[in-house]
Amino acid sequence: MKEEQKKAYKRKYEQAKRKGVKFWPDIIYKDLLVSFGIFILLVGLAAFVGVAVEPKADPSDASYVPRPEWYFLFLFEFLKFVPGKIEWIGTFVLPVLVILVLFALPFLDRNPLRHWKNRLTGISIMGVVVLGMVGLTVRSVLTTPKKEEAVASTIQEKYALGEDLYSVNCVECHGPDGEGGVIAGVEGLEGVDLKSISSRDEIYTRSDETLAAIIDYGQQDQGMPPFGLAYGGELKKSEIDALVMYMRYTWDDRVELPSDAASAGAIPELSAEEIPSYEVHISRLAKRYCISCHRPGKENNNYLMGSYQEMLTSGDNADHNLIPGDLDSYLILAINGQSILDENGEEIIQRMPPTKMMKEEYIHIFEVWVLNGMPETASDAEALTVQGQE
Ligand code: HEC
Ligand code: HEC
Repeated sequence: MKEEQKKAYKRKYEQAKRKGVKFWPDIIYKDLLVSFGIFILLVGLAAFVGVAVEPKADPSDASYVPRPEWYFLFLFEFLKFVPGKIEWIGTFVLPVLVILVLFALPFLDRNPLRHWKNRLTGISIMGVVVLGMVGLTVRSVLTTPKKEEAVASTIQEKYALGEDLYSVNCVECHGPDGEGGVIAGVEGLEGVDLKSISSRDEIYTRSDETLAAIIDYGQQDQGMPPFGLAYGGELKKSEIDALVMYMRYTWDDRVELPSDAASAGAIPELSAEEIPSYEVHISRLAKRYCISCHRPGKENNNYLMGSYQEMLTSGDNADHNLIPGDLDSYLILAINGQSILDENGEEIIQRMPPTKMMKEEYIHIFEVWVLNGMPETASDAEALTVQGQE
């Protein structure tokens, strides 16, 4: 080090000393203030903001994405580059080596000058380490698989989701209202008489956990299939929860659905002058009473009811199923309990739904819809109502 530089440092040191700032109590006092401030801040954050709690640990939840705390992400990401067999090199040897290098840094770079431009060795090593950590952290965040999207968050959405799932997965055996009865049209269970799962005896005595467990693993010795992903089914944990919630709110008269959610699943009533539409009425009725069989992969004469187009155009008897203005349309006859015979007197379509007739008022909605030419949207139906009144 050059002589005059040394002198300059000495001078500064002397000056500071003369000012008379002491570590105890001057500096300690400042430290105390700052740490107290931070302490208050933390208490405040903990009390008023808090940390989002993850859901309870669930061994059957195959969709959980485990990740370490953010400050360990770089180590976690680094591990991905190390083959499993030599994991110990990635978890132990290399990190320790890097730490040792950092320890050795002051000895490797013995340059006495302070300005960073004069400390290229030290700065470069440190820079590589810091950039590596930041880079790995960023990469880890970017490559984190998306957590299963919360399919539904509000009660209303969950209830509606539960209702949809129930109609697709459960109606064909348990009936639209969980009433049970003799199963028709389900392979292997033909003629089996199911007890009600919606009666007080059932729903009062089953907790939400029990219901979720029954849906998750099924009761295979009795013919109830498993629905949980982990047991070969197709339903995620959150979907099973939505189903249970739907069952609880619909069948258990001790609990009441919050009023804003009640409208989500309800089939809107038809007022005297009103013309129903696919959008508002029919799609919901179809979902609740028909879709469990009238979807791809089921026996249904190729008649699908997933959308307006499908309802109007699919089916072996597409030309007869829905004829505008005609109450002899096959669909209307079938939901009125009549079976449809071909010219040889063979039954080609049984009554619909085969297990149990819909309520009179729902059949009426289908009829008014067909009489008015099957409008698709609410505004189409509205337009027809206005025309009718003129
Ligand atoms: C393939 C037909 C079938 C399907 C589909 C089906 N179940 Fe079942 N379920 C059964 C049978 C069979 C039983 C056992 C017999 C019994 O309890 O009457 C049963 C039993 C149950 C029970 C327990 C009844 C009790 O008290 O022991 C519940 C709850 C239940 N099912 C709910 C559902 C839900 C919710 C769905 C839709 C996700 C569903 N089931 C789909 C056939 C089915
Ligand atoms: C339990 C299963 C099941 C349910 C629920 C069900 N269907 Fe069907 N549907 C069938 C089967 C199976 C057929 C094929 C004909 C037959 O076997 O009767 C069919 C055929 C039909 C057909 C004739 C299609 C064609 O082109 O030949 C119509 C129309 C129909 N169903 C309407 C409905 C309506 C409307 C609902 C709801 C209110 C409904 N179905 C509910 C099982 C079901």
